[in-house]
Amino acid sequence: MSAPPCSPLEEEELLENESATESVDLEISRRTFVKAASILSAGVITGMPRIAEAEAERMAATSTPQTISVTLRVNGKSEPLTLDTRTTLLDALREHLDLTGSKKGCDHGQCGACTVLIDGRRVNSCLTLAAVADGAEITTIEGLANGDDLSAVQQAFLEHDAFQCGYCTPGQICSATALLDEQKHGALSTVSFETGNLASPQLTDNEIRERMSGNICRCAAYPNIVAAVRAAERASA
Ligand code: FES
Ligand code: FES
Repeated sequence: MSAPPCSPLEEEELLENESATESVDLEISRRTFVKAASILSAGVITGMPRIAEAEAERMAATSTPQTISVTLRVNGKSEPLTLDTRTTLLDALREHLDLTGSKKGCDHGQCGACTVLIDGRRVNSCLTLAAVADGAEITTIEGLANGDDLSAVQQAFLEHDAFQCGYCTPGQICSATALLDEQKHGALSTVSFETGNLASPQLTDNEIRERMSGNICRCAAYPNIVAAVRAAERASA
């Protein structure tokens, strides 16, 4: 039911009330604004020097690098190094040991181009601090061949044309090398659980795709990579 129309007198009263309410609202907002502004300016005046001081301290601390002595065992050779504690294994290999086979793709653990083996297990060297690998056995793409004899995986990649630009290839080969070992030891993947074959997972194409999914190939050489891994498994059986 709609409200009955007001008389001119009532209408005038109503307008006056509305305008009074508006001015109270405005007054409250004005007071709130002034109060907030004075709190903020007091914070800025008193807080700024402390923030600047803290920032200066932080800059001083970060500009004086802390170093650490490590011995990296790379491809069977001991490499003593003194490194900034923040040096990643990837940077230690590439910048300090000149082993540029391991590639820096994303530097964020997302592409697998930097994959190397630590004690036979694949890791993203861009996400691993060199200090963590102290004393461990590190294998890079440079250490997989035996002199001029390529490993089964390297040979299979060549024979199956499993690369185009080759940028992801060292990481793919290191990853596939560890994959074959993991599979031999009965390690399971998501696909093994999907197929329910947990006792002895077969290296099907789906298993290979799942187990190689941490290695991205921007050239999309995936079908040939899968074929190469399958062939390497046969060759090393
Ligand atoms: S460079 Fe390490 S995962 Fe991409
Ligand atoms: S071959 Fe080019 S990124 Fe893989």
